[in-house]
Amino acid sequence: LAVAQVAQFRRDGFLFLRGLFSAAEVSALRRDALRFARPGAAHKFDERDGSAVRVAHAPHWRSRLFSRLGRHPRLVEPARKLLGREVYLHQLKINYKAAFNGGSWAWHQDFAMWHRQDGMPRPAAVAAALFLDDVTSTNGPMMLIPGSHRSGRLGAERKERSRPLLTLPDRVVERLARGGGIHAPTGPAGSVVLFHPNMAHASGSNLTPWGRIVAFVVLNGVDNAIRRPTRPDWLALRDFSPIEPLADDCLRRGRRAC
Ligand code: SIN
Ligand code: MN
Repeated sequence: LAVAQVAQFRRDGFLFLRGLFSAAEVSALRRDALRFARPGAAHKFDERDGSAVRVAHAPHWRSRLFSRLGRHPRLVEPARKLLGREVYLHQLKINYKAAFNGGSWAWHQDFAMWHRQDGMPRPAAVAAALFLDDVTSTNGPMMLIPGSHRSGRLGAERKERSRPLLTLPDRVVERLARGGGIHAPTGPAGSVVLFHPNMAHASGSNLTPWGRIVAFVVLNGVDNAIRRPTRPDWLALRDFSPIEPLADDCLRRGRRAC
């Protein structure tokens, strides 16, 4: 990352890296992502009406490509640079946001859950959202409130019928959005949004015929490892050893050992 990009991340709480991964890299990951969406696959949540898969967790346990993605230098190096320390993988998941049936995500801060449910001490982590489909203004893009991370951890409430469970009250979102506006990064598959654990974010449902698969890779500082996990290990990973980034071409077809 350039100095200006680091400054932008500190100011806005996110950074959009358009086309960071190639079409070939993305199509291989996407093919694997579809394997974890099958009925009966482990570690997944379906949409409430059962019409489609919503999230698949820990795909790196079952896919060599996703395990490489979790150690990819194009994600690990920016995270190390932004955090100024070694990182480990806190969470890896795939959000499918299926065509016609992909449901919404209520406004929340990820750190609310990581702190309360996993015992993560500080918001010293970075999330990378990698688009495995083109994300447009219509297929349920993630919405962010620029600068909202600077307000720290805000009051979270438990809305029983929404996933995530700890959501931001409407009046908090209203106040934040009055200050920062709302931005929805869109772009081709392969693009990445890096964002802060206290970034206020949400997304609407997908009523279009185009799916919106996005993989989330969460890298946490090794000195900020979770202390009191209450969730299963596939939701809050337990390998706290520092990641040694792989070679830049590790997702290329036919690349055997990295
Ligand atoms: C999330 O906050 O984990 C999901 C947001 C999205 O997929 O739009
Ligand atoms: Mn989130």
